[in-house]
Amino acid sequence: MLRLGAVACLLPLLVLGEPQTDAGWGLLAKSCGAEVPRTCTPTKDLPSWVDGSFIIAGPAKFEMGGLAFKSLFDGYGRTNRFEMRKGEVCYTSVWLNTSYYLAAEKLGKIGPGVLFEGTIPERPACPLLDPICDLQAPMDNNWVNSVPMGNEALILTDAPLMLRFNLETLAVSGEYPWEDSLDEKYHKATSGSAHPVLLPGTKSTYIEIVPMLSIVPWSSAKVNIYSFDSKSGSKKRTHVASAPMPSVMYWHSFGVTANHVVLPVNLKMGLGGISSLTHRPHMLDHFEDSWDGIHVVDLKNTSAPVQKFDTDKFFHVHIANTFENATGIVMDIGTDPAIPFRDGPALTTAKFLNKTLRDDRTGSLFPQLRRYHLHLAGAQKGSVTYEALSVPGRMTDFFKINPAFNGIKYCFIYMSEWFHDDKAYASMAILKQDVCKGTKTYYHSNNTYPGEPTFIAKPGSTEEDDGIVVFPSLDGDKGESSYVILDGKTFNEIASVPLGVHIPFTAHGLFFPTGEMASALSSGSDPAEVLRKATDAAYLV
Ligand SMILES: [Fe+2]
Repeated sequence: MLRLGAVACLLPLLVLGEPQTDAGWGLLAKSCGAEVPRTCTPTKDLPSWVDGSFIIAGPAKFEMGGLAFKSLFDGYGRTNRFEMRKGEVCYTSVWLNTSYYLAAEKLGKIGPGVLFEGTIPERPACPLLDPICDLQAPMDNNWVNSVPMGNEALILTDAPLMLRFNLETLAVSGEYPWEDSLDEKYHKATSGSAHPVLLPGTKSTYIEIVPMLSIVPWSSAKVNIYSFDSKSGSKKRTHVASAPMPSVMYWHSFGVTANHVVLPVNLKMGLGGISSLTHRPHMLDHFEDSWDGIHVVDLKNTSAPVQKFDTDKFFHVHIANTFENATGIVMDIGTDPAIPFRDGPALTTAKFLNKTLRDDRTGSLFPQLRRYHLHLAGAQKGSVTYEALSVPGRMTDFFKINPAFNGIKYCFIYMSEWFHDDKAYASMAILKQDVCKGTKTYYHSNNTYPGEPTFIAKPGSTEEDDGIVVFPSLDGDKGESSYVILDGKTFNEIASVPLGVHIPFTAHGLFFPTGEMASALSSGSDPAEVLRKATDAAYLV
């Protein structure tokens, strides 16, 4: 009877796995150990067409010299590379040798610099003879995102500064040597978006924005829109358009279609109030509500006045896709009723680690994935309509799509979901959402914390979801991360490669094709080209 009883007790575990206890959640905010030299694991079910490196970085060292960062986002960056080819996955992990990190290592502790939040204990004040030491310190902790640039990459955060990144050695080799300056005679560049957008219809023209501060009284704030070519390794940027702004704004992301740049105007960089004069400046003190609707800049007629679309106020971090249809612009965007860069569980480590605080969903501070229609023509011209795409009460972010569908009508968004069990922030899933049919497909295990899912298209395929979805995933019960590869169509697991270490929170990943796959893409099997030809008639109007 005892044995039968024990078996009966185990049955729920066998059927459902471990219950959601948030086991190992704290590892997402725990510093990594030593660098991981290139380590290869046979992965027999890896599709033979995959040949390249998936790179994803994030903060991975959260304290130094007796000081700890209050915010996860201030952590020193580390890069993870997953090479996939010929039936194996090779993992390498190295620190990002930024000036920010090297200066702290030399100092032996967290040094000067403008942080999202402060440190515990707080750093001493800047020296009397160097009162703005934070503003002069290296601030290039660019682990957020990357874009290709020639045979290397640019790594980015929300700053005008872009760093060169070697895809072979994973080394940072300083600031990208643009030949021009973003500063102008009467304006100074203040920040940048971590998400330049590939101009739809082009293979390598990226659009980027830079909010500009007026430094003379007879001028005013604006945003400059510029382009750069990512294929040639060009050092020149091209000014595309400028748009007046009510203040010095801040954008983590924005939308681009073949004809328009779409700017939800909702956040500005303020002076930080009196507190910024009495203590070291913190980024969180400077974000201010500055809702001014959604601004649309016409790329085909840049002298035309900016069109403003008014709607209910929202804030945003990420945009899944922006495209045009017969009556206007469609934008699928993660909205937030409050300033997303705030002292909350997503940013503040103490709240991230406190189950009571992170699970609290009372109040209205809850994000929603929405589809906006900006009506440029038709009966509703000049108005905005929107609908919710996400499950009420759950949180989604890190939206990715098949890159070939950037800027055109599409069906599939891949994303991270929190509160998957409708109870726990740490109940995470990877979600494939079909916004055409309204269906959702999940990949989920209790106490398992996946990073942003990246879709890699199979060259030559004409189906939007024909490919694989990859991401690092932390198994909280084992205390170890793995590299997960899913079938893009079925969401069945192709492989889960154990890495032997934990990977903390990560940001945005990017796949860089190499070898045969890169050759296939450059010789005419570019999935973007194939898909555009296959879908133009069906999708574009
Ligand atoms: Fe981002």
